[in-house]
Amino acid sequence: MTEIVRVGIAGTGSYAPERVMKNDDFAKLVDTSDEWIVQRTGIRERRFVSEGENNSDLCMKAAAAAMEAAGVGPEDLDLIVVGTLTPDYLMPSVACLVQDRLGAKKAGAFDVAAACTGFLTALHTGEAFVGAGRAKCVLVIGAETLSRYLNMQDRTSCILFGDGAGAAVLRPWEQCEQGEVLRTILGADGSGFEFIHIPVGGAAIPHNHPDYDRDQHFITLRGREVFRFAVTKMSGLIAELTEGLDREEVGLVVPHQVNQRIIDSALERIDWDPEKVIVNIDRYGNTSAASVPLALDEALRGGRIEKGKHVVLVAFGAGLTWGGTLLRW
Ligand code: UT7
Repeated sequence: MTEIVRVGIAGTGSYAPERVMKNDDFAKLVDTSDEWIVQRTGIRERRFVSEGENNSDLCMKAAAAAMEAAGVGPEDLDLIVVGTLTPDYLMPSVACLVQDRLGAKKAGAFDVAAACTGFLTALHTGEAFVGAGRAKCVLVIGAETLSRYLNMQDRTSCILFGDGAGAAVLRPWEQCEQGEVLRTILGADGSGFEFIHIPVGGAAIPHNHPDYDRDQHFITLRGREVFRFAVTKMSGLIAELTEGLDREEVGLVVPHQVNQRIIDSALERIDWDPEKVIVNIDRYGNTSAASVPLALDEALRGGRIEKGKHVVLVAFGAGLTWGGTLLRW
């Protein structure tokens, strides 16, 4: 019988592109205002990639920082998994571009498509490989260049998203003695696939199809429906992952940075202390698969995660998909 290996997060890293887009920049493009965006979402600014800068470039910067923190080199990597909905190309995966640019000669590489749940899906995949003894060192990344899929004439969606990347290196816990993955949850409900959707550009309606409409090659949202789903999921996942734990044992919740009001409503539902939650949506907006690892890396580097405390990661998004992870640092 296969022995289950305890898995830990040996190091994290993140990167956000340099180009800052402030709310006032959007007020020049659509009928909106800094006041509306701050009040309804908590976002003040977000980062967009520049021309020629791609998802794989963001991955490389986040990966370098995570690998340095973990003290591993490219030759140590057995597997690279990237959670993303905005790979450089439809084919091959962005993970393969990263594998080549890192020179990770013995690593397998693939992307996972789970939208905003992409990083947690990648993390749980990597954890399963290390946990089953099939890999000793896995690089997992969540990275997005969503700015390339925004309709800059649609005020209900273009103001929400930003670009970025976050990464983590997974190893057997004995080799890092931190960030042990204790519980994982993944779920999906594909009946809600149209809630957050890019209608054309896939193989159903490719660019040469008679119904191809350039204006639908963008993220479309049913914001209010997603809002309700998100509040229910976020509060439910935190409650489920922390069941049986004393609240004192939980040091930090790292939620998907979707909307300040969604986060506040979810915390209120379960009477959770907002001081024990990291929020950086004001500076990055919703970076989809990059949102949780960006915030986790900021929390770690900012000294907000104490040794011995539990850390909860939660995410949800298009699919619909959701995921949660309980760690002990
Ligand atoms: O990670 C998953 C992807 N994220 C999401 O799907 C986002 C989840 N949803 C949300 O964050 C919120 O629903 C939004 C921020 C998208 C919208 O906030 P809301 O409080 O739910 O606003 P609403 O959709 O109920 O719209 C209220 C009003 C509408 O005007 P009318 O119909 O009342 O006249 C909108 O047209 O606000 C209007 N509006 C705006 N006004 C100024 C919508 N977007 C804007 C805007 N600026 N950017």
